[in-house]
Amino acid sequence: MGKAEEGIRSGGSNPWKSQAAFEADKEAREPQRTPQPPQPNGATSRPVIGILGAGKLGTVLAARATASGYRVLIAGSGDPASIRAHLTATIPGVEVESARRVTELADVIMLALPLGALDALPAEQMRNKVVIDAMNHWLEADGPRDDLTDPSTSTSEIVQARLPDSRVVKAFNHMGYHDIDELWAEPGAADRNAIAIAGDDEDANAVVARIVDDFGFDPLPIGRLAEGVKLEPNTVAFGVTEAAAGLRRAIDMFPRTPRGRAVLAARGGRI
Ligand SMILES: NC(=O)c1ccc[n+]([C@@H]2O[C@H](COP(=O)([O-])OP(=O)(O)OC[C@H]3O[C@@H](n4cnc5c(N)ncnc54)[C@H](OP(=O)(O)O)[C@@H]3O)[C@@H](O)[C@H]2O)c1
Repeated sequence: MGKAEEGIRSGGSNPWKSQAAFEADKEAREPQRTPQPPQPNGATSRPVIGILGAGKLGTVLAARATASGYRVLIAGSGDPASIRAHLTATIPGVEVESARRVTELADVIMLALPLGALDALPAEQMRNKVVIDAMNHWLEADGPRDDLTDPSTSTSEIVQARLPDSRVVKAFNHMGYHDIDELWAEPGAADRNAIAIAGDDEDANAVVARIVDDFGFDPLPIGRLAEGVKLEPNTVAFGVTEAAAGLRRAIDMFPRTPRGRAVLAARGGRI
């Protein structure tokens, strides 16, 4: 049984719509919240957020983070000078730096780059930091990769193995970038959309839950990092736009899906 039959909402017919269509829609919308200037860390005790990847997802995360009062640094793959003018004009307060500089300065690093670029991450600079893995294996970007679709592991466990001294938490991967931009709401709002969190380190999970809440979503902790396999592409939860109870229901359908059965078989019946 699919999402529609179970009454589970997902982000339209094409949740991962093109950036051009997204920009055109965005022009037509009213600004929803006045961006707040970033505040000195001590004043808010909020971590500095670094975002690797300045494409569709990375820029929306940067906008949510600056609007929520975080100091935010962002990097693409190339020379920061080539994207700085555009990004600072469209995301007030954001700082554009090299990936190396972003990982050095940030307390929490959000991965919003193609999963296939994992080997390019500066692991040494990311030691002891909280790393939010928002990446997915995406055929168009990464090509067919048996290692990234292997049912005996999850992509976030692969990320954790690449960054053994970081505390990896999976979050923000299962919602389309335009839904993150459009569907956020203040705490306590009726039917507020939820974002799931999976991670092995309780303190890191708490840091990420706060960020999810500040960005405008109810955090839904679902357990250890391995449980993040239930949020990957080709699962019911992927692309869902639901409050916590609906998202939980979508996640709980995992074992009854073809992908869920393949994962459970490959992992000896348990995740
Ligand atoms: N699009 C969504 O709705 C969505 C939602 C949830 C999760 N995700 C996941 O988020 C990730 C990014 O998706 P996207 O749609 O934002 O892709 P995108 O628009 O193609 O952007 C990818 C960004 O990553 C940058 N990049 C590539 N290699 C890098 C490196 N080594 N260091 C720093 N930045 C690097 C690219 O820079 P250059 O342009 O300079 O190469 C580009 O800015 C993917 O893993 C995707 O599965 C996407």
